[in-house]
Amino acid sequence: MGISAQAQHVMDVNTKKLGAPVQPTMYGLFFEDINFAADGGLYGELVKNRSFEFAQPYMGWRVFGRVELKNDGPFERCPHYVVLNDPGHRERRTGLENEGFFGIGVEKGKEYRFTVWARAPKGSSQIRVQLINPSTMEERQEFVQQKLDITSSDWKKYEIILKSPRTEAKAQLRIFLSSPNSVCLEHISLFPVDTYKGRENGLRRDLAEALEDVHPGVFRFPGGCIVEGTTLDTRYQWKNTIGPVENRPTNRNRWEDTFDYRYFADYYQSYGLGFYEFFLLSEDIGAEPLPVLSVGLACQFQNGPDAHAAMNELDPYIQDCLDLIEFANGDVNTEWGKKRAEMGHPAPFNLKFIGVGNEQWDDLYYDRLEVFMKAIRAKYPNIKIVGTSGPDSEGKMFEKGWQAMRRLKADLVDEHFYRNEDWFLATPEGKSKYGPGCGAMRYDTYDRKGPKVFAGEYACHGKNKHKWNHYEASILEAAFMTGMERNADVVYMTAYAPLFAHVDGWQWRPDLIWFDNLRSFRSVSYYVQQMYAQNCGTNVLPLTMDKRPVGNQDGQDGLYASAVSDKPSGEIIVKVVNTSRSAQDVTLNLVGLKGDHTAQTLTLSHNGMDDENTLDNPTRITPRPGTCAVTAGKKAATIEDQLPPMSFRLYRIK
Ligand code: AHR
Repeated sequence: MGISAQAQHVMDVNTKKLGAPVQPTMYGLFFEDINFAADGGLYGELVKNRSFEFAQPYMGWRVFGRVELKNDGPFERCPHYVVLNDPGHRERRTGLENEGFFGIGVEKGKEYRFTVWARAPKGSSQIRVQLINPSTMEERQEFVQQKLDITSSDWKKYEIILKSPRTEAKAQLRIFLSSPNSVCLEHISLFPVDTYKGRENGLRRDLAEALEDVHPGVFRFPGGCIVEGTTLDTRYQWKNTIGPVENRPTNRNRWEDTFDYRYFADYYQSYGLGFYEFFLLSEDIGAEPLPVLSVGLACQFQNGPDAHAAMNELDPYIQDCLDLIEFANGDVNTEWGKKRAEMGHPAPFNLKFIGVGNEQWDDLYYDRLEVFMKAIRAKYPNIKIVGTSGPDSEGKMFEKGWQAMRRLKADLVDEHFYRNEDWFLATPEGKSKYGPGCGAMRYDTYDRKGPKVFAGEYACHGKNKHKWNHYEASILEAAFMTGMERNADVVYMTAYAPLFAHVDGWQWRPDLIWFDNLRSFRSVSYYVQQMYAQNCGTNVLPLTMDKRPVGNQDGQDGLYASAVSDKPSGEIIVKVVNTSRSAQDVTLNLVGLKGDHTAQTLTLSHNGMDDENTLDNPTRITPRPGTCAVTAGKKAATIEDQLPPMSFRLYRIK
């Protein structure tokens, strides 16, 4: 770390003046099933369309020989299954193959749990289950196989464990009928045994661990636009996502219907990762759950005014909210609390927040929200209700949204902003065309008396089609976040969006975490979020330069900064971001701090403005730990430092 002889930027941190508490929910995560984030991503299932319930029942499957599709299976809400019949000649075959999600990823030495619901109409039958590489030049396509006897004419669940002798990113599952007797197969499933926390119906370990490693304070789910649906009947209905997975009805994913230039006809939701699993995950990663439910509006981007539930049709939607709160918090003797207990969690999930509507706008929304709020408040006065200001970060509709939220007394307002570099960098004095709402000074002028802010979806999207994860965007996010932190009295929650993307199946970028079937990497934006979340402290400390907050104001040379204290550890945490293209000398005056101290630092700096982590080079840019000297003084301890161009440095002072 180079020390400059002439530090020009003197920042005063008043270490004795504890400011607003930083809410434990301040830095969170937002999960939506976009970019194949759930099926094909976080959800560990490796078989696509495992219950033959897609609109084209064989999508994801290739069937051969004499296969019949039937729809009077054992699971009422997933009625389809297949019957494999004798092909009629000893050299012929009957069976089926599943392509997985862009292939099936398996790793050498790891075990995979194959399960199937089956019955043999004649009392016994047999199948052969294989993992294959169909395009290999080797003698055999299969690299692991096992026989499975079906021993009953009643529907039963069967299981075998396949241990993969090799690593394959794009394997397929093949099942042969290997006896003359027919067999009926339903809910054909393959999971890694080694899931997150070792759970069956579990989550992909590397992806779930990436969430845990953030130390998020809040976890918003399940979306996003999928809450609304392209049409109301494809909206996310949480009641369809609980109970035995075999009987959770498949839903068409709203992100199938969005961009025809990134089109995935096979994008469905199995709901294997449903609300119970989301609550469990929130608990596992230590975050407050924040479910978002439909307010009776189908996606407003995709529909005109008539596509929605009328005001006199809202009852079932409102009931869904009330029942969800009971599902999360209710006693095991309540109708919905009992269902939670039956799924394995008798203790309540302690739900404190509920989002009503995703990214809705205008009177259509405000009128509906009012009715929901009345009903929720009447039954659950302690639950905090999150409304939304819609998709704009400023402007008429945004203002109208905030006015409505103030009038309705929403507890929090969910703001969304996917904006470019200029917006993130702009300052009020900067004559920005975006107005006073842009940049890291955004929240300095917010009304302190109204609802609190949930910056629930945001990311810096590079302009000029420079819309992928790149270093510069991440640094601008870090800069912007100093403004959130400084204004922790009004900003209570934040979350970058979207969270996940499959490299073969994305619709939207940038994203926080990318993955393929075997590997994943954490973007630089991920590390920015992590640095904040792991160092959120408990109280804001005043930090100024020439008595003004540091948010790239005139004369501040592209610098941004915020400070917090952390009561449990007694540490002071300062975050400084240098968004200029040159190194900046910085002096941190830690006013009121006496005696000898040391500072641990974490630094994000670049190898190039477009640089990013990748699957092949996942740790190209990660926070680098270091230390720096803290010089004792009479009134203040000081740190003199030089921040590299375009860098983010965090100081933890003991
Ligand atoms: O995060 C992607 C989408 O952006 C969300 O689904 C929606 O809320 C917003 O428009």
